[in-house]
Amino acid sequence: MTPAKAQQRIAELRAQIAHADELYYRQAKPEISDFEYDILKRELEELEKKFPQFAPKDSPTQKIGDDRVQGFVEVAHRQKMLSLDNTYNEAELRAFHARLAKLLGTENLQYTVEPKIDGLAVSLTYEDGRLVRAVTRGKGDRGDDVTANVLTIGMLPRALKGAAPKVVEIRGEIYLTAAEFERINTERAAAGEELYANPRNLAAGTVKLLDSAEVARRKLAIVLYGLGYCEPALIGSQTDLQKRLKAWGLPVVEKYWAVQGIDAVWEAVSELDRLRHGFAYGTDGAVVKLDDVDQQREAGATDKAPRWAIAYKFKPDTARTRLRAITIQVGKTGILSPVAELEPVLLAGSTISRATLHNEDEIRRKDIRVGDLVEIEKAGEVIPAVLQSFPDERPKGAPEFDLVATVGGKCPVCGGKIARVEIAGDEVEGAAWKCLNYECAAQRTGRLSFFCGRRALAIDGVGGVVAAKLVELGHVKDPPDLYDVPLETLATLNLGTEAEPRVFGEKNATKVVAAREAARALPLEKWLFALSVPDVGESTARELGRRHRNLAELARSPLLQAVLKKAELVAQREWEAPASRKNPAKSDADKARRKDLCARLDEEIAALDAGALAGVPADVGPAVAGSVLEFFASLPGQRLLAKLRSLGIDPQGTVAATGVFTGKTLVLTGTLPALKREEAEQLILSAGGKVSGSVSKKTSFVLAGEEAGSKLEKARELGVPVIDEKEFRRMLG
Ligand code: IVH
Repeated sequence: MTPAKAQQRIAELRAQIAHADELYYRQAKPEISDFEYDILKRELEELEKKFPQFAPKDSPTQKIGDDRVQGFVEVAHRQKMLSLDNTYNEAELRAFHARLAKLLGTENLQYTVEPKIDGLAVSLTYEDGRLVRAVTRGKGDRGDDVTANVLTIGMLPRALKGAAPKVVEIRGEIYLTAAEFERINTERAAAGEELYANPRNLAAGTVKLLDSAEVARRKLAIVLYGLGYCEPALIGSQTDLQKRLKAWGLPVVEKYWAVQGIDAVWEAVSELDRLRHGFAYGTDGAVVKLDDVDQQREAGATDKAPRWAIAYKFKPDTARTRLRAITIQVGKTGILSPVAELEPVLLAGSTISRATLHNEDEIRRKDIRVGDLVEIEKAGEVIPAVLQSFPDERPKGAPEFDLVATVGGKCPVCGGKIARVEIAGDEVEGAAWKCLNYECAAQRTGRLSFFCGRRALAIDGVGGVVAAKLVELGHVKDPPDLYDVPLETLATLNLGTEAEPRVFGEKNATKVVAAREAARALPLEKWLFALSVPDVGESTARELGRRHRNLAELARSPLLQAVLKKAELVAQREWEAPASRKNPAKSDADKARRKDLCARLDEEIAALDAGALAGVPADVGPAVAGSVLEFFASLPGQRLLAKLRSLGIDPQGTVAATGVFTGKTLVLTGTLPALKREEAEQLILSAGGKVSGSVSKKTSFVLAGEEAGSKLEKARELGVPVIDEKEFRRMLG
């Protein structure tokens, strides 16, 4: 791989990982499995190793994921909460031991092997034996205070039994049992609410709810396995800790192994793999820890993880079954996605009858045909996927899969035209078939349930089934039509059949009405995201919402026009470059003329960058700009705008007209003592300022916190004033 390619791939991976982190840690709503995530991270680690010049200190491979969310008070951990490095095979596990043996000068090492619980990490502080605080891991050194929610956990004692240290931080994992997960999801399904993908996400989502009464209704559970700060230090080993935790009356792991040497470790790991499906919590791996605390101290830790402990990740569960049929689903953007309809089979504790097949190209690549024996995988408890087929056991004459033939050349839902399109969105990569009819019922349903989803307007209750019904009965065409559906109509909506009616009900309908009214006040960024504008994902919506006052301004956005203008100038600059290969200069005079022209173009581009485009991030590029402007100029876009106007809905951007920072550009660097990065950015924007990612002569101030790096140096070099949080607050008054 060339350095340029590597740099590009590293940037891609970093963006994908950042996106996945945001969904996993903050929103508890991942789109990829842990397994897929680990693969991305590994690829990044390897590339960074080969090309250290592209491995900055703040790379996701060097950091602990950040789970902090708004609404909670932040608290510092007395001792940092670290993450763990992962291993995926026996050789890597043995290498871990070899490193320690070398470091400590002996092969004869004592370890514990424990289940790796798939939940949400917390740190409990007991002072004089009484539980005083529960804090999430956050970004390792400080997390969110979730004491009120943790106090709802019935099995957690408020006081330690027997003699207790003066202060002790005890680390563990909050989880939900499979049974409780099923119960909550069944209830949500009945109420038409969005379902949670797996117990971990539901547990994490629950701990981060601001409504403790709702938390209490979901029966969270906890298990403790680790030690943070302890005063006085009275624990000599991990086995000692396990015994202490039990004696204090705390819930501990069902089983752990205390073993000597790496062979015994491997045996214990294998035994754990056989037993783990019987545990109350999801177990996605084993944690191997050096037992002796003095040896742990000697081995030490990196910024991210201890050297004395490691996780071993189990392979995702797989099973074999028959592929009965391939059906085609139509999503909110019209993309036709194949779904595997399977002979039901038991996999990782649940019966699976459907799995994803991603797209037609992949089905062809894997040579998967209807009637095949297939292997399916359930990784990290997300939607199961088909891994491979076994052509040797194929029924005679099974034809190759052909998506177009399967749907008879038209959209299986509306019968409309389909076309092959290139996509580079969140949902699918590569080429796919797409239904071109914006009015297609499947697209309408998809847009409506997306509009109501938790990440959009959070109108709980209008999930897939309810949305489909509202569209089918003609109550809703575009999502905002939901505002016109009377309470009565919602309450009497029949989600079942005529023979077996199942009405939505007064209570659910009332909730929907309350939620849709509350959504009126949500900011522009939420609405923009909720309206399914092509190419506008969550982060793009946030960027645009911060830079426009309202939808009307966005629809003819000067900023987006500037983005397009710049792209045009850049293309022209490339074409006119005197050394252009595609368009070589014809004569010396031509060369000279083009040199002047290019200088002028450079000036124009620089003026745009410093002016209209200052601080605009790279993800608001020409493709996004074109999509947004085109969408709002189109008939459906115009119809949406008119509808919102008639409903009196006018979502506001988070740009303030004026403030102390009007006309000023600030750059943030390092970690501020109290403010989260987003909070500081919000304060700057609402005081009229702009936030930029890099320091230049035009930067007005650099707001620097702890561990500020190159940006601070650059500011000093250029003589840009540097302020700390205290000064920043003073300026804001
Ligand atoms: S020990 C400094 N033990 O897995 C040692 N962690 O992927 C770090 N986890 O952050 C923690 N089960 O939240 C430890 N038996 C166990 C665990 C465990 C689950 C979590 C923990 C950690 C994460 C790392």
